[in-house]
Amino acid sequence: KTIYLKEYEAPAYHILSTELTFEIFEEHTLVINRMAIKRRGDVPVPLLLDGDDLELLCVKVDDVKIPTDAYERNEETLTLFDPGAEATVQVVTKIYPDKNTALEGLYRSGGIYCTQCEPHGFRRITYFIDRPDNMSVFTVKVIAEQSVCPVLLSNGNLEEEGSFPDGRHYALWKDPFPKPSYLFALVAGDLGRISDNFTTAEGNEVALHIYVDKGNEPRADHAMRSLKASMRWDEETYGRSYDLSVYNIVAVDSFNMGAMENKGLNIFNSHYVLADEETATDADFLGIESVIAHEYFHNWTGNRITCRDWFQLTLKEGLTVFRDQSFSADMQSEVVQRIRDVDMLRERQFPEDAGPTAHPIKPEQYIEINNFYTATVYEKGSEVIRMLHTILGEKAWRAAMDLYFETFDGQAVRTEDFLWAMQQHSPIDLAQFALWYSQERTPSLCAEHSYDPASGRLTLKLEQIVPDAVDGRKQQPYCMPLRLALLGHAGEELPLQLEGDTGAQPLLERGILLITRDEESFTFGGLASEPALSLNRHFGAPVVMEYPQEDVMNLMRFDSDGFVRYEAAQSFARSTLEAMMRGEAVSPQFLESFKHILEDESLDLQFKAQLLSLPTVTMLMQTQQTVDVHAILEASDALRREIAVACEATMRHLYALLHRPAHMGLEAESIGARALKNRLLGYLMAQQDAESIDSAMAQYEESHTMTDRLAALQLLHHGAPEAAEAPMRDFYERYSGDMLVMTKYFSVIASSPQPDTLSRVRAAMEDEVFNIKVPNLVRSLIGSFARNPYHFHAYDGSGYAFVAEQIIALDAINPMIAAGLSGAFKTYNRLNAHSRAQMRDALEKVQAHRGISKNVYEIVGKILAG
Ligand code: ARG
Ligand code: ZN
Repeated sequence: KTIYLKEYEAPAYHILSTELTFEIFEEHTLVINRMAIKRRGDVPVPLLLDGDDLELLCVKVDDVKIPTDAYERNEETLTLFDPGAEATVQVVTKIYPDKNTALEGLYRSGGIYCTQCEPHGFRRITYFIDRPDNMSVFTVKVIAEQSVCPVLLSNGNLEEEGSFPDGRHYALWKDPFPKPSYLFALVAGDLGRISDNFTTAEGNEVALHIYVDKGNEPRADHAMRSLKASMRWDEETYGRSYDLSVYNIVAVDSFNMGAMENKGLNIFNSHYVLADEETATDADFLGIESVIAHEYFHNWTGNRITCRDWFQLTLKEGLTVFRDQSFSADMQSEVVQRIRDVDMLRERQFPEDAGPTAHPIKPEQYIEINNFYTATVYEKGSEVIRMLHTILGEKAWRAAMDLYFETFDGQAVRTEDFLWAMQQHSPIDLAQFALWYSQERTPSLCAEHSYDPASGRLTLKLEQIVPDAVDGRKQQPYCMPLRLALLGHAGEELPLQLEGDTGAQPLLERGILLITRDEESFTFGGLASEPALSLNRHFGAPVVMEYPQEDVMNLMRFDSDGFVRYEAAQSFARSTLEAMMRGEAVSPQFLESFKHILEDESLDLQFKAQLLSLPTVTMLMQTQQTVDVHAILEASDALRREIAVACEATMRHLYALLHRPAHMGLEAESIGARALKNRLLGYLMAQQDAESIDSAMAQYEESHTMTDRLAALQLLHHGAPEAAEAPMRDFYERYSGDMLVMTKYFSVIASSPQPDTLSRVRAAMEDEVFNIKVPNLVRSLIGSFARNPYHFHAYDGSGYAFVAEQIIALDAINPMIAAGLSGAFKTYNRLNAHSRAQMRDALEKVQAHRGISKNVYEIVGKILAG
């Protein structure tokens, strides 16, 4: 069944307050739910309560059991025909957390009871108006065996606790802030914790606790540091402070996503909490910092102001991603962070936007809302917010955000309400800008320019190419800010003297052109000689920028905007790879530019590692009409080798300089040294020569950090599998007891180009460490395989068949994870006929499987129709 935004209706009742009692027993849990309901209108109407997979024991209205003909029940709802204008409705349900492998609602992970309610998990706990525009004040009593569950947590503040003579005990939690049911959380179990505290700008004391499996306490320090930094940052940047006296975070091993922002009780995938140098990579540390911040920032953008309905998801997610990206940029290096975020957008969102499941950041329909927690809603959503930030400028942006918080605090609102607040402080009318919320697919922007030496004028012609929507609908040109500069011979920024139309003068003063039409041209005067054009600086608009290649070498050397330097380097590498695919040789200019960067000692090391990277296979696939994965892989491998041959001596020298034990901390300098060193080792290993293999072996053995150990292991296993046997065994023996580290081991296996990869993946699935019920393990092994271009796209179709088989198996266990895996097939309609036929076979098997979930049904249906 398809749900449409345009069919939105406010609920007929509100649940003003909700009193929940959880009686946790070994085999089942009883949920007693007392709701104070209030009808919105004057006429009697039925009360519809959502429920999913519930055993109903009892229904009472005002404490009296109601006759069975006063209500009706089906698969999805409990309807009370006329409970009255105001009443207390009580329902008692029985649930089975141990049997809940979908990980939605109340489930048990490694002995710990925990919940995931966004978006529709609460209805798997009790009957409720389970939608975000129903905001209720929750009081929660949790009762369990003291020895099994010494820790009992829920949202808000702890009001009371006590014990019973039979060995059971209870805790009573009250959250004073009205909230939708998707923000409800409960945790019960035997957990260790670390504690700290924070004083808000207003002087309020907040107790901070991070709960983890006993023994893991020391690995939560980085998460705690990140939490405190986030709290301070939101006060300094947005004037937003925390509003309860306690902030709890719980880490669990089985979790469908990264983390969840439940009010006062965040629940996290342990991957985003636990880290130390021995077991976590630099990327893991950064991931923790950003996800901790993301969930913390939701307290204002998501919880205090929430979404009216799930079509508004980007209201909280796009905005909160923008906030966490800004935070990370402030904590780390701004340009390095920006490149990471753009890489991720291009790697995950651009392909989505180009494929059969493309949707606007604010979708208008869905079958299964869980399928819309996408890179588009999150990452493109964040880019849309970033454009607003660019258009308004820092000061007006802050004023508009203040207005948004003041106006809508405590409400469930729409993206239009957010845009209203932005409009009050915007230098331009945002009506056209709003198209970013309702249109899909990535626009391209083509730039052409001509310079007239006689008049000293440069004319820039810009053409917007707006693709049709998935269903063939024509779409309108966007309004977007384009940051640009004209650069002189030494890379200096020349003054922008725009002639004629100066409508957007306030923006121009900040180096921004406002693009509003599908074709327009701008003329700049006062230029003594031809400047180089630096376009879409900082990647200010989420478009595919097509610009002349002639300035690329200069831009990559001297542009004062680091992002454009990176962009120029990537674009040069891309055109080089494309030429190689046409049978041409690598141009000496490319190798020379590469060397130039390699030898530049003034560059920040992390930035340099980024400048020396090549576009990924996914990125290269985007520019091909008919995707030929094998041609891309061949060219990429060949270019790597040529670079290694051309730069070998410099690379070895630099590698040796950087491979020093001094570089082992978490400061930018050391992280950068590791990033660059491992990038160089990657090129050197492309030669598969004895000297490089020795370096990698030595690095594996000597490494002090997981970053170095894992990089060496991966390069060895992928490039020199015989040499890798001993380190692979060593790694397994060291870490087989640690689930999080084993996910790295499984990804190394599953992402290998070696011919026996599929059989190794199958063998790993039989390993005692592997468990198909744990999403992290599934993603690391099966998910990595589905992203492995060498083997997913194997000529004999074995990769597609394997992944399809796993989707079917997983769907019976956890439909959300199965649907996630189905996304691997999104390139379907762009493959050559041979691959397409094989993919179709595999997908049709999935589609024909009896009892397939609506999650998988929706994704596979769209792919096959596309
Ligand atoms: N709101 C969470 C976050 O972005 C994600 C929860 C997604 N849950 C889901 N069932 N799809 O931090
Ligand atoms: Zn979020």
